[in-house]
Amino acid sequence: MVQIQEKDIQTDAVGLPVPTAVFNVAVIGLGYVGLPLALLASRKGHRVIGIDISERKIASIRGGVSPFYDEKIQKHLDAKPLDVDTNFARLRESEIIVVCVPTPVHEDHLPDLTPLSGACESIAPHLKKGSLVVIESTVNPGVCDTIVIPALEKHSGLRAGVDFLVSHCPERVNPGDERWSVENINRVVGSLTPEGLEKTLFFYRSIVRGEVRPMGSLKEAEAVKIVENTFRDVNIAFVNELALSFDKLGIDVVNVIEAASTKPFAFMPHFPSCGVGGHCIPVDPYYLIEEGRRNGFEHEFLSLARSINNRMPVHTVNLLARTLEEHNEELRGARIAVLGLAYKSDIDDTRESPARIILKELTVRGAEPVPYDPFVKGEGAASLEEALKGARGAIVATSHRAFRSLSPEDFLKHNVRVVIDGKNCLPKQVFLDAGIHYRGIGR
Ligand SMILES: NC(=O)c1ccc[n+]([C@@H]2O[C@H](COP(=O)([O-])OP(=O)(O)OC[C@H]3O[C@@H](n4cnc5c(N)ncnc54)[C@H](O)[C@@H]3O)[C@@H](O)[C@H]2O)c1
Repeated sequence: MVQIQEKDIQTDAVGLPVPTAVFNVAVIGLGYVGLPLALLASRKGHRVIGIDISERKIASIRGGVSPFYDEKIQKHLDAKPLDVDTNFARLRESEIIVVCVPTPVHEDHLPDLTPLSGACESIAPHLKKGSLVVIESTVNPGVCDTIVIPALEKHSGLRAGVDFLVSHCPERVNPGDERWSVENINRVVGSLTPEGLEKTLFFYRSIVRGEVRPMGSLKEAEAVKIVENTFRDVNIAFVNELALSFDKLGIDVVNVIEAASTKPFAFMPHFPSCGVGGHCIPVDPYYLIEEGRRNGFEHEFLSLARSINNRMPVHTVNLLARTLEEHNEELRGARIAVLGLAYKSDIDDTRESPARIILKELTVRGAEPVPYDPFVKGEGAASLEEALKGARGAIVATSHRAFRSLSPEDFLKHNVRVVIDGKNCLPKQVFLDAGIHYRGIGR
């Protein structure tokens, strides 16, 4: 087993223990979660190898270029190269193996655990006695026990909890976040055995500055991340529903939410938009819904939240069609600029992005959508000017900084008068005063 000795724990200026041992660490899956983690562990002095099945990603990282847009990651890669490979045999020396592969859903919203089980099957033949395997991917409660451990045991011939250790430490990283990073965010850890828990806490405390909290079991730790993201999904569904209702009541929902936020306790603001995107919030609740179903429980509340949030991109297109009609224009045949493809501001990740559904819906309804995203290269218009030229209307689908600073003149100079602010990120009154037919989501 990964041996921790007294000399491995020193104390900092205020007497708190600081782990100092150096481990051979492997990170499996070098995406938005795995790559920052691998670079962090390497910066903290561990010997790190990164493994990914994508030849393209490995070639990019080997060439010192981040495979996705992230200035901090690029800076770290510039400062220190990362040893990466597609070959799982490189795991031979690894004492700690951290799995950060995707956990998406299929078209029918059922969890797709094949990347995770595939990764475990690839790791297992190279697993050595005493290793620790940590799952960082977001999974529903029970996945470590029913998928991860059986796959590792079957393909290694070793026994979990006896020959190797298994833990879950769900990642909470928020790409593009200036304040919270992989290094300073608090973590939770659940493990199969007390020994596994101790080793995992030790490892994470050696790289993370935030609190690393032990949980009672693997299942508890698995539930934490799903609960966090489901909390966001249901709260966003609540305000999205308010937006749909307040539209009819003639109330600006953003003003109301901002005013409600002045209450110093028991209110946490969430804001409506053209939809919920990304690999986490619109995905993770389905993992819990499905696990509930498998165990004879129907999560009606979560399913309703999902269906309200899934409705928002089409609502946004309806809003556009209605606003065009009010000004004697038709959606069919109209060129429409869709500003933003990424699911959130200032990143290039388009997974589950509402913009994709907006584009599809516009096409189905006979419009000619022209997307533009400064972070997503090689898709749509090459510039804002090109996207707006000849457009009869525009939808702001991502609140990139560059879009938040748009003025009415940026639209008016192309004779674009109908602007649907899918992220409520433009100054409504300024746009209305300038003669733009502005509509936000619930405002
Ligand atoms: N993106 C986020 O903001 C975020 C935040 C917290 C948690 N998570 C969770 O972390 C996990 C990873 O998410 P991500 O956004 O980094 O995904 P990603 O798609 O950016 O990266 C995953 C990487 O894993 C690789 N991969 C797939 N199957 C593999 C296999 N069998 N063996 C080795 N590599 C494999 C892919 O090629 C890819 O490079 C998911 O479970 C996600 O829910 C994501």
